[in-house]
Amino acid sequence: MKGLQGKSIIVTGGGSGIGEAAALLLGEAGCKVTIADLDGGKARNVADQIVQRGGTASAVEADVSDEASVIAMVDHAISQFGGLDGACNAAGVPQRGKLLHEVDLEEWDLCHGVNLRGLFLCNKYQIKAMLAKGGAIVNIASTAAMVGFPNGAEYCASKAGVLGLTRGSAIDYATRGIRINSVMPGGTLTPMLKGAMANDPGLEPALAAVHPMNRFAQPAEIATAARWLLSDEASFTTGAAFAIDGGHTAI
Ligand SMILES: NC(=O)c1ccc[n+]([C@@H]2O[C@H](COP(=O)([O-])OP(=O)(O)OC[C@H]3O[C@@H](n4cnc5c(N)ncnc54)[C@H](O)[C@@H]3O)[C@@H](O)[C@H]2O)c1
Repeated sequence: MKGLQGKSIIVTGGGSGIGEAAALLLGEAGCKVTIADLDGGKARNVADQIVQRGGTASAVEADVSDEASVIAMVDHAISQFGGLDGACNAAGVPQRGKLLHEVDLEEWDLCHGVNLRGLFLCNKYQIKAMLAKGGAIVNIASTAAMVGFPNGAEYCASKAGVLGLTRGSAIDYATRGIRINSVMPGGTLTPMLKGAMANDPGLEPALAAVHPMNRFAQPAEIATAARWLLSDEASFTTGAAFAIDGGHTAI
């Protein structure tokens, strides 16, 4: 894909699910991939897979909700690969599967601390690193940013915030060579969705019913959209929110 070869790209949440699939696709495309995850072991495992396939990758343990950790993550990518050209921000935590009046403040803070505050911190320091030469950022939101999910209001709110942050910052940096877009996956078969469905027996049938394709996505079906948005083939695309959702938000 045009313009990916040799690019230094960070993937947060790159140790699992959608982030892992994005990291593997970017590695295949010739990017130098920094895989950042709260779980350093998972990040190393994905970096090893890329290197075994002949690609270039480095792993870093990072907590996206912690400012010092995010700064260290960006510094890691720059010191390993000489700069930063792009990022796919996929780190996230799921809904608690509760009605809103049952959600504790700690649960709200964890959800928003990772999904929105963490995304802000990542974008802030990634943009700083890209100001001189430009770049591209993909923020992984969710269809939950557009439509309500049962027992997940705090998650829906965090993902709606991702769209707002993406749109607002996209217009601010549009003339500075930095494109910022979001992808809204529908239900995707990752450890997160499988865990959420195991915790909330009503979730699987409720979610399946709202996907017109009558199935969930494989992580690579979401990651291909991120790969395109990071490439030069998406050179006129910024501030967009792409639903990759089997038709969910078309209903
Ligand atoms: N799976 C779905 O159905 C679905 C649908 C829509 C949106 N999403 C979003 O896609 C993104 C990826 O989710 P997934 O389904 O691949 O989940 P996943 O659980 O498989 O992967 C998420 C990764 O994020 C990491 N992570 C969690 N907290 C972190 C932190 N504080 N700092 C750094 N890393 C952290 C986890 O260790 C994990 O490796 C999330 O933002 C999620 O909200 C998922």
